[in-house]
Amino acid sequence: MEEDLAPQETTEKTQTVVSASDLDETAEKGSYHLKGYTLKGVFDFPIGAAVVYERLKNEPYSSTLKREFSRLSSESNFKFHMLQPKENEFVFTKADEIVNFAQQNKMQVHGHTLIWALDGMTPDWVLNYKGGAKEFDQLLKNHIYTVVKHFKGKVTSWDVVNEALTPNGTYVDNIWLRKLGEGYLLKAFQYASEADPKAKLFANDYSQEYGGKKLKKYLKIADEARAKGIRFDGLGFQMHTVLRVDANMVQKSFEMTAAKGLLVHISEMDVALRYQKPSTFDLTDSLSRAQGAKYKELVYAYLNGVPKHLRFGITTWGVADKDSYFNRNYVNSNHDYPLLFSKDYKAKWAYRGFIEAGLGR
Ligand code: XIL
Repeated sequence: MEEDLAPQETTEKTQTVVSASDLDETAEKGSYHLKGYTLKGVFDFPIGAAVVYERLKNEPYSSTLKREFSRLSSESNFKFHMLQPKENEFVFTKADEIVNFAQQNKMQVHGHTLIWALDGMTPDWVLNYKGGAKEFDQLLKNHIYTVVKHFKGKVTSWDVVNEALTPNGTYVDNIWLRKLGEGYLLKAFQYASEADPKAKLFANDYSQEYGGKKLKKYLKIADEARAKGIRFDGLGFQMHTVLRVDANMVQKSFEMTAAKGLLVHISEMDVALRYQKPSTFDLTDSLSRAQGAKYKELVYAYLNGVPKHLRFGITTWGVADKDSYFNRNYVNSNHDYPLLFSKDYKAKWAYRGFIEAGLGR
């Protein structure tokens, strides 16, 4: 049985994020923006958003990114199947455009991801590739070298591996594991650091915020990397999370990670509201406020759990609710409301909770 540490408790806390008088500082109706403040202005570490290339020219998507964020990830444009859809045919056009957009707007770019450790997320040509350990080692090296060198100096950090461990702390079965054994993971880090010695290198995954076997195994792997002289800079906590998550537990997981001297990145944050709801539901004021309170608690968990020099940043997985990948396959875009901005790009209570933690309120 895989360890399941996901929150089980069902009550949704509803609490007010700010007092009513603070609403005077709100710029426009229905927006909980704080006049004079932006996310990137308030925090002294990067605040990121995952983008989708096709939307970069849309408004107010684009202006919201420029106004609020200081780092970009991409939901898909840097993944293996996008960058090397066929053997040795690298396609960088869209990823390059994202980098250009970021550079024009003085934002950093975080690369997600060199290896997604699932067969379902690996192109068929790799799965069907003929050869043994030697050939697959070459394939791994060639992909990582080519991609990381292409973006050297422009993409300043990478998720080297994504979702490589099961919740139980064992290695996820995939083609790299079958061909190269568990050593594939640190090999990937080694190749990435050879290709760009300055880039910060992360293992990215979900549910280590519960502090269970998966997190403990990553901390062991980081020790192993150090013993072998392989650079392993930090952990990416995806944090696709829910209203019921216990922020104290999350803070403890950050503390355990920071105690090892590892950078902590909240890499794909969103707070889903759809627990025990029909497939579409309305975002009520009380749900929205509860979400704001949770964002605030979680950002505080980060600030309290991670010392300044290890705060790599917080990245949300999209900009407005309708952009969220949770809504991708639903016509109404109201399957969930996990992000900081409403469908018309107004700042939600989620945004307000987030930014108030940064202001120490
Ligand atoms: C998702 C993207 O958001 C989707 O657009 C894509 O179709 C599938 O991947 N964890 C991850 C991300 O590490 O890469 C996933 O992104 C979301 C879950």
